[in-house]
Amino acid sequence: MLSKTIDNAIDNTPILQEKGAQTAKAIHQLVLSGGKPARKAFDFLHGTWLGHPIHPLLTDIVVGAWSLGALFDVLSLGDKSSATQKTADTLTAIGTAAVIPTALTGMADFSTIPKSSAGTGLAHAVAADISLGLYLMSLFARKKEQRGWGIFWSMLGFSVMTLGAYLGGHLVFKKKVGVNRLSPSTPAQEWTAVLDDADLLENQPETVTVDEQSILLYRKEGRIYAVGAFCPHAEAPLADGTFCEGYVECPWHQSVFNLSDGSVVHGPSTYPLPSFDARIRDGRIEIRAAG
Ligand code: FES
Repeated sequence: MLSKTIDNAIDNTPILQEKGAQTAKAIHQLVLSGGKPARKAFDFLHGTWLGHPIHPLLTDIVVGAWSLGALFDVLSLGDKSSATQKTADTLTAIGTAAVIPTALTGMADFSTIPKSSAGTGLAHAVAADISLGLYLMSLFARKKEQRGWGIFWSMLGFSVMTLGAYLGGHLVFKKKVGVNRLSPSTPAQEWTAVLDDADLLENQPETVTVDEQSILLYRKEGRIYAVGAFCPHAEAPLADGTFCEGYVECPWHQSVFNLSDGSVVHGPSTYPLPSFDARIRDGRIEIRAAG
């Protein structure tokens, strides 16, 4: 199976994984040290504002434009009309221009990629960079009216892009990078007792399980917060995170969530936490899914 062969090839190239993890960590540290402006810029690139990663939306533009460009290039070999050639050139240029925002969003997502996927992420990025270089050479040749070379370089770029696109799909569908890692179940539709009130101490998070879903309880200044206990980005246990002023910061890649409603304050997660109402009845903490 091709996906297994790719996994084996990457797993057997430790330098790729090592360099991938190091590069991702260096970018992420740079973002964290850049303070709020850097985090806001990366939130934008992750797609926190959209509730969905932006990178896959942009890759569709690149792949779509370059695929149609290749088709028109092939057609132009039999049909020398300037309209067919112009369409091929325009589509090639659109795809190449779209690589810039696509690469920026990809770099943002790569910066917080789980370590086990960093090698594949790096290979995906390298393939994208090589295909960009080949397409730039193609555009240059087309501008110089060396059409044969223009088509040659773009076909080469298209082949490398196809490999890169395959690796991108492999990251999402096999390694689950960028997807919501939480199960979609919605437990506790009715008030459900989950813990003795005396067992939840101020500032000391507790994790309980209701209908097979883990829920984080946190008490601060008399208020009890209840949200999903694991981060949607890569399932870090949020009980190990940092709690501050009604927010929790994920211990692995520093997504920040509002404990009141589970909403995302900072990425890389683009998905909110499940959120629950909480109350105390007869010395027990009860929760139910937030309405
Ligand atoms: S696991 Fe990556 S931000 Fe939480």
